[in-house]
Amino acid sequence: MEIIIQTTPEAATAVAARTIALLVRKKPDAVIGLATGCTPLLLYRQLIEMKLDWRKVRTFNLDEYVGLAADHPASYHSFMAEHLFRHINIARKNIHIPDGLTRDVPAFCSRYEKQIKEAGGIDLQLLGIGTDGHIGFNEVTSSLASRTRIKTLTSQTRLDNAGFFGGEEKVPHHVITMGIGTIMEARHCLMLAFGRKKARAIAGAVEGAVTAMNPASALQMHPRTTACLDEEAASRLKMSDYYRWVYANKPDWQKIQPPFNGVGIISSGRRHKQLLSRNGTSLPAWTARVPGS
Ligand code: GLP
Repeated sequence: MEIIIQTTPEAATAVAARTIALLVRKKPDAVIGLATGCTPLLLYRQLIEMKLDWRKVRTFNLDEYVGLAADHPASYHSFMAEHLFRHINIARKNIHIPDGLTRDVPAFCSRYEKQIKEAGGIDLQLLGIGTDGHIGFNEVTSSLASRTRIKTLTSQTRLDNAGFFGGEEKVPHHVITMGIGTIMEARHCLMLAFGRKKARAIAGAVEGAVTAMNPASALQMHPRTTACLDEEAASRLKMSDYYRWVYANKPDWQKIQPPFNGVGIISSGRRHKQLLSRNGTSLPAWTARVPGS
């Protein structure tokens, strides 16, 4: 797992935004797995400011509450519309979010899996992390091989999400979520975590045993996961000095050069690729390095 520790959530988010921007510029019809919660809010704001071309991008959200209509203010449909989709030029037909009102949950879930496969699989899956290490709504003890399915929320997760509903008692008990096995098939997993309350979950996910008691720890078995953390979320990591050194000393061929007149040069293996921003404007110089390359 690649661990990128930045001083602030803004700086850590910028690394993630840059990674997504590069993907969309390189592959305009990229398939991106999206997440909800407070953590990606800043990322969505930065992505909107970057004015990327989303016309051909296809998205699959991780999860949705069972029993909530798409237009319910606390649904993840509403969340995504408000914080990202209505600000970008994505095509409605390219957006996929689990249907909280489906009458046949198992059939819906297999169809969702099939749609992901038909889209060619997920290029990049964005992930937050729960205080107990859950990803998507894969609660602790979820099978590490699980697929999209219904899950029952723990009282901790319902409490953590109570703010979105105006009270814990209003948080639904059931959700539809991509499984850990589904997430593990994404070609790149990009996890964001900020704040001290995520420090224990991050330490377990990165340096603990692979266990269903910390679902994010399954990412240790993923060939390409990048975790973008602020200092507080990284505060319990034993190897943090090592992660910082690695990131600060990447070989040149793994770095992206600062943009010049809208053209950034990124090295990928031995082959240098030119990345030209679509609208001819400069790429924001938020970070000089791309993770996981
Ligand atoms: C919910 C979401 C997860 C998210 C988690 C943490 O459980 N289903 O995808 O990672 O909350 O949320 P926050 O970013 O608000 O801490």
